[in-house]
Amino acid sequence: MLLPPRMSILLLLIAVLLALAFVPNPVEPLTGVTDVQALRALKESVDPVTITPTSFLYSWDFNVDPCDSSGSFLGVLCSFPLDNSSSRVIAIGLDDAGYDGFLSPLIGNLTELVTIDLTRNKFRGPLPESIVNLRQLTKLLISENLFTGQIPDGITKLKLLQEADLSYNHFSGNVPAKIAVLRSLNRLILSNNALSGRLPDMSGLWQLSALDVSSNNLYGNIPRLPLNLKTLVMSHNVFSGHISPVKHLQKLLVLDVSDNRMSGRVLRQVMTLSSLVRLNVSRNHFTALDPIDFPGIETHLQSLDANDNQLRGHLPGSLAGLENLTSLDLSHNYLSGSIPMEYGAKLGRPWKYLYLNDNFLQGNLPPQLAAGGEDGIRGSLANNCLRCSTTVRLCRGGQRPHAVCAAQRRRW
Ligand SMILES: *[C@@H]1O[C@H](CO)[C@@H](O)[C@H](O)[C@H]1NC(C)=O
Ligand SMILES: *[C@@H]1O[C@H](CO)[C@@H](O)[C@H](O)[C@H]1NC(C)=O
Ligand SMILES: *[C@@H]1O[C@H](CO)[C@@H](O)[C@H](O)[C@H]1NC(C)=O
Ligand SMILES: *[C@@H]1O[C@H](CO)[C@@H](O)[C@H](O)[C@H]1NC(C)=O
Repeated sequence: MLLPPRMSILLLLIAVLLALAFVPNPVEPLTGVTDVQALRALKESVDPVTITPTSFLYSWDFNVDPCDSSGSFLGVLCSFPLDNSSSRVIAIGLDDAGYDGFLSPLIGNLTELVTIDLTRNKFRGPLPESIVNLRQLTKLLISENLFTGQIPDGITKLKLLQEADLSYNHFSGNVPAKIAVLRSLNRLILSNNALSGRLPDMSGLWQLSALDVSSNNLYGNIPRLPLNLKTLVMSHNVFSGHISPVKHLQKLLVLDVSDNRMSGRVLRQVMTLSSLVRLNVSRNHFTALDPIDFPGIETHLQSLDANDNQLRGHLPGSLAGLENLTSLDLSHNYLSGSIPMEYGAKLGRPWKYLYLNDNFLQGNLPPQLAAGGEDGIRGSLANNCLRCSTTVRLCRGGQRPHAVCAAQRRRW
């Protein structure tokens, strides 16, 4: 059908008008009013200078609806209920644009939030107490910011929390005493803050697989810990006492208690934990490594670092029986006796790191070492009382003066 041009324009106009008539009136906005207010407050408490044009926050344009926008409100995720109730914000994940500001207490009005991720920015001031209202929260990721003050006790009300990473901030005060009520916690990372006091009993956190409290000012004994831990990092604190509380953690892969004030023996039950791959007990006051009769014991240990302790006695020959050990550091101790002949066969295959320097080891080297079989191995035998030829690379740095060695021998 061919219509005169004017006619077809008219038809088009009618069609457009009809279409417009069926577009629903702009009913109430999609996003709940309080959620919009809260988002607005979040943006307003960040220094506008730090909201650069390519950043997520820059795209937060309050002329459009946060949950019904394309291209704006980057980093905001909403729920879309099937009934006519308004959309709710369920996730805020900001980019690491370097936002400098405070976290508005109105965050607590986003009561459906499941995830908060503010990692690697400059949020400062306290974590608002109002987060206690975020009962749906499963992830609280705020590491690498400038938060100060205490970790709010209210955090223990967030019963669905699975992952909390508060590392690299300036939190001070104690770890909340009732932290163990958070039964869903899987990862708790509090490292690199200024937390002090004792760690509370954590044994109730039976889902916890990673706990990192390193680089704080925590002291006291190692508390009771949950049995499903795979990674336990407590380094750079002032923990004291014995290592025995970890001996039941059969699932541990990584254990780092380095740089504390722990004492006593490094128990055989710890060194032979069946899954353990890395053990670091360096920079403590341990006095001995328990003797271990390895044959018949399955261990996965790849790295043992016990440097800078007060270990006495002979080097355990049995360490050569650890099938997968590649890295051994027992330097800066008071170990004596000779280097076990068994060590010779392990050099380079698979041992890659062998640091025995700064002890009181004596006698001849295992033949493989003396013959220069040290290719592919890094380490040092310096500062002992060994017969160590300068042609052997690991011997570089020299040995202790005879007088010192003789004096030490007399004391033993
Ligand atoms: C949703 O709103 C529409 C129009 O306002 C109404 O017809 C419908 O019954 C409402 N549905 C529910 C589940 O409230
Ligand atoms: C939003 O949060 C503020 C401060 O926490 C509170 O006073 C206010 O009642 C909250 N509003 C709603 C609607 O929940
Ligand atoms: C053990 O811990 C110390 C101090 O925290 C660290 O310097 C060292 O690199 C660690 N050793 C290994 C093998 O990772
Ligand atoms: C040692 O490592 C090899 C290769 O990674 C692995 O197959 C083997 O099971 C390990 N042995 C032990 C005792 O962990």
